[in-house]
Amino acid sequence: MKQRLLELLGIEYPIIEGGMAYIGDGKLAAAVSNAGAFGQVGSAGRSLADFELQIQIACEQTDRPFGINLPIGEHSDPRERVEMILKYKDQISGVSISAGNPRPFIPVFKEAGLPVMVVVSTAMHAAKAEQAGADILIAEGTEAGGHNGPAELTTFALVPQAVSAVQIPVIAAGGIVDGRGLAAALALGAAGVQLGTRLVATEESPAHDRYKRAIVAAQGEDTTMIERSIGHVTRVLKGEYIEEVLRFEKTGPTPESLYPYIKGEKNRLAVLEGRLEDGYAYSGQGCGLITEILPVERVISTMVEEARAVIAKLSQL
Ligand SMILES: Cc1cc2nc3c(=O)[nH]c(=O)nc-3n(C[C@H](O)[C@H](O)[C@H](O)COP(=O)(O)O)c2cc1C
Repeated sequence: MKQRLLELLGIEYPIIEGGMAYIGDGKLAAAVSNAGAFGQVGSAGRSLADFELQIQIACEQTDRPFGINLPIGEHSDPRERVEMILKYKDQISGVSISAGNPRPFIPVFKEAGLPVMVVVSTAMHAAKAEQAGADILIAEGTEAGGHNGPAELTTFALVPQAVSAVQIPVIAAGGIVDGRGLAAALALGAAGVQLGTRLVATEESPAHDRYKRAIVAAQGEDTTMIERSIGHVTRVLKGEYIEEVLRFEKTGPTPESLYPYIKGEKNRLAVLEGRLEDGYAYSGQGCGLITEILPVERVISTMVEEARAVIAKLSQL
């Protein structure tokens, strides 16, 4: 399965950059791809024009394969994003679909010759996405930064269940930041891993330095969930702003009344302008293992070396 994943995406290492609203720009995607992994330009948190610009930047900065993340529910009209992806179909090497029903979109990208990855959070969704034609699944556990699936399965429980439910490669996501996590994911039957939080705290990431340093300073218990009151689950770094949101959520808000607290602009302020007091910033529980802001190449190469060492050690048991 690992080999199949590497061949489908044309990459050296089974490591993928998860789609990241505001953070997943062309420069970061290119840095990830140049390190032998699979970078992805995220479409969330950017205008259509900026989305195109970031695709162009990735094209300029790497000759290696990279992809696009399309979180359907983040766009009032995802069709214009789909058209943009199709415009660059010869330059990109895969699309990951998240946050919505992937079924109508899968055939469109497949007909364009692009491998399609679908983010899932239960074994049932994994099976459905496979039936709908997905080539690769990303099984994302609730340790992950950002929006999580409502079932809140952990990566350790979800990944083997998803692997057992399908015949296609499954990538593990959520809480993975080092070689131990990569080795563990492979042991659970995953073909590779997807990283989010670890890549935020890299030199090439466009995240504000305060956000990067907050991830480095955070312990595993320093994240929490917001948006539960409206039936969503979103993992963020704890802080004063988040306490205010949670206090408001206790009053039983409607989605409309909660919106001013959770709108994208509040995310942008925190993550790109460093105004952590005025907005929210996503982080997975793996933040407790992130102790340095590193160049992307170091993150990827260290992860691969560590995983090899762990696997060699385990094979002696
Ligand atoms: C800053 C940030 C932004 C994210 N935005 C998106 C997004 O736009 N689309 C998406 O599918 N997932 C998004 N995610 C989830 C990641 O793609 C990835 O699956 C997750 O971060 C993996 O868990 P980890 O954070 O523990 O590494 C985001 C995660 C982070 C940390």
